[in-house]
Amino acid sequence: MSKIVINGGKRLFGEVKIHGAKNSVLPLLAATVLCRGTSIIHNCPELSDVNASINILRHLGCECTLKNNTITVNSNAIQCSQIPDSLMLKMRSSVIFLGAILGRCGNAVISSPGGCELGPRPIDLHISALMRLGAQVSECHGLIKFNAPQGLHGAQIHLSFASVGATENIILAAATARGVTVIHNAAKEPEICDLAAFLNACGACVYGAGTDTVTIYGADGLKCCTHTVIPDRIAAASYMAAAAITGSEITLKNVAPAHLTAINSVFEEAGCKIKCNGKGLTIKAPQRLSRVSTVRTAIYPGFPTDAGPLVLAMLSKAYGTSVIVENIFENRFRYVDELKRLGAHIKVEGKVAIIEGVSTLSAAPCKCTDLRGGAALVVAALAAEGTTIISDIHHIKRGYESIVSRLSLLGADIKEV
Ligand code: UD1
Repeated sequence: MSKIVINGGKRLFGEVKIHGAKNSVLPLLAATVLCRGTSIIHNCPELSDVNASINILRHLGCECTLKNNTITVNSNAIQCSQIPDSLMLKMRSSVIFLGAILGRCGNAVISSPGGCELGPRPIDLHISALMRLGAQVSECHGLIKFNAPQGLHGAQIHLSFASVGATENIILAAATARGVTVIHNAAKEPEICDLAAFLNACGACVYGAGTDTVTIYGADGLKCCTHTVIPDRIAAASYMAAAAITGSEITLKNVAPAHLTAINSVFEEAGCKIKCNGKGLTIKAPQRLSRVSTVRTAIYPGFPTDAGPLVLAMLSKAYGTSVIVENIFENRFRYVDELKRLGAHIKVEGKVAIIEGVSTLSAAPCKCTDLRGGAALVVAALAAEGTTIISDIHHIKRGYESIVSRLSLLGADIKEV
């Protein structure tokens, strides 16, 4: 199993190109199931989660290629509507294929996704919404079967929580359903807008994406289109945190500053100067960061839960004590014990983490517990004295394309062994 080895303490400099958004490309690949013809998607990051999605598409009968960050998918010959356990388990987001398969085939079978590294991740909102759209659901031997013999139909759906995945699944299922679907309390994340833009370019009628009411007029069928994935705002936050903790100045290319406002304000409060112009986003960090007032994770446009671990890592070396409140996932702080091995002073009580900044972090062997927690270890190790060896890096590969070479080009002493 490969590991990341980092000799900390190097200043970063130069430019880094931010890859396409993981959380956009996965629902976009699911959406291609609904399309006739060949969909072309540019700016696709090469990630293990993207490979898992490609494997699901191929299993369903799609022709799929990935070359130079462009994925082509032809779904004309889909002949299967079941995602086997082995593919479901590769990636929690496989559930996002549900609405699209059901819309295309009139039935779908998946295995129960079960618990996960961030705590329980139920799919009750997905299931009850699909039932409102006309699906019959049954569960046995760990399989969940969805059937819509008469096809799906439009419905009014009130989400009790603005779930990103449930909003995407409903949009996908409703895109070719009979009649009009309205999602109330929909998620407003930029990735929802990207999905709607893709579907609309394929002939769907999705209105209001990016607001809390999304209306979908079911189309008879979808054609294909060429689409470019939006930049990954969490990858952007990760490189910003790497620059911030090492007192560096770097420029991020291929970013969408409008998606980073909540993130930028925390970095600015910590003492970083951020400039956005046509060329990208430049972050200049002070020698040592200062504490920030309580960071509370929230649905978009609030501070994203996925950026919490990165900011927590950077604040572990700031002047003063900061607090992060995690409001989205129940068990997001598992990586904190690993950060403590590097000398960070952090206390977790339920959904609150209290971070007492230390002047020095020191290298230690540590282990990724999850994707963003793993990236947080990389951020901390870049500023730690000595050589940190990070294991279980398959978590990091789920969401970061060539993180080692990108950081290395920025001047970090980092390698994969
Ligand atoms: C997506 C992102 C993930 C991000 C999260 C929150 C993708 C591929 N992943 O995950 O990176 O951290 O949004 O911004 O886009 N919930 C239920 N029942 C459901 C669905 C969700 O209780 O049926 C709960 C979850 O347990 C969690 C909360 O809602 O506590 C948020 O989940 P959701 O917004 O659905 O996140 P994901 O779509 O899984």
